[in-house]
Amino acid sequence: MRSRLVAGNWKMHGSLAANRRLLEALKAGLHASAGVQYTVCVPYPYLAQVEAALAGASIAWGAQNLSEHAQGAYTGEVSGAMLRDFGCRHVLVGHSERRALYGETDKRVAGKFQAAQGAGLIPILCVGETLQERDSGVTEIVVGRQLAAVLDSSGVGALVNAVIAYEPVWAIGTGRTATPQQAQAVHAFIRGVVGRQDAKLAAGLSIVYGGSVKGANAKELFTMSDIDGGLIGGAALVAEEFIAICAAAGQV
Ligand code: 13P
Repeated sequence: MRSRLVAGNWKMHGSLAANRRLLEALKAGLHASAGVQYTVCVPYPYLAQVEAALAGASIAWGAQNLSEHAQGAYTGEVSGAMLRDFGCRHVLVGHSERRALYGETDKRVAGKFQAAQGAGLIPILCVGETLQERDSGVTEIVVGRQLAAVLDSSGVGALVNAVIAYEPVWAIGTGRTATPQQAQAVHAFIRGVVGRQDAKLAAGLSIVYGGSVKGANAKELFTMSDIDGGLIGGAALVAEEFIAICAAAGQV
């Protein structure tokens, strides 16, 4: 059985005090569940806080970005090894906000994916189309291109230690969730692309959905056959919501 993952992406939210409350509530509400993993991807300055708070808990943690370089004169950047120093297990790579607002190209995202694995992190590779791309009927072309950049540079075998997150840009932070059928169709497409290179690996690959997932809609998404969990933005900042989404992942 594929393992399920519910990942919180805190984006640029939080404070020491707010994080403390959220982490305490998550620790109280989330318990180890067979086949489901939980993780929170937090802003860099809070990694030490999260590492201390979650030690021994059944919740992993990670970051939202990393440099494609291992070290050097790259002012303002953070390496994968630095993230490992703070116990990170996961790191988001190629989130649409990084692609759209910070000019991250497919090539750079592929470099970051490689750097993450080189440091022993599990990259959560984010792919997804804009509304304009969906309306123009090029969703599969866009997602296929984003995926190919990583497959070409790292090889299909690298996906053994990775998670793919399908996040349609039009569903992020808009309250407009993709329907389970819309999401399932793209997840099946992604699994098919990987499967043409390695069917066994594709069958075991975790592909999670992101974009306005809430406690109220998580279960109908997670029951789809190719949806293996979620990447959660806004609802990850509200303990009861995140716990409800995690519970939904455990029920299907
Ligand atoms: P929302 O859940 O707020 O739509 O954000 C999704 C997202 O971008 C997670 O990475």
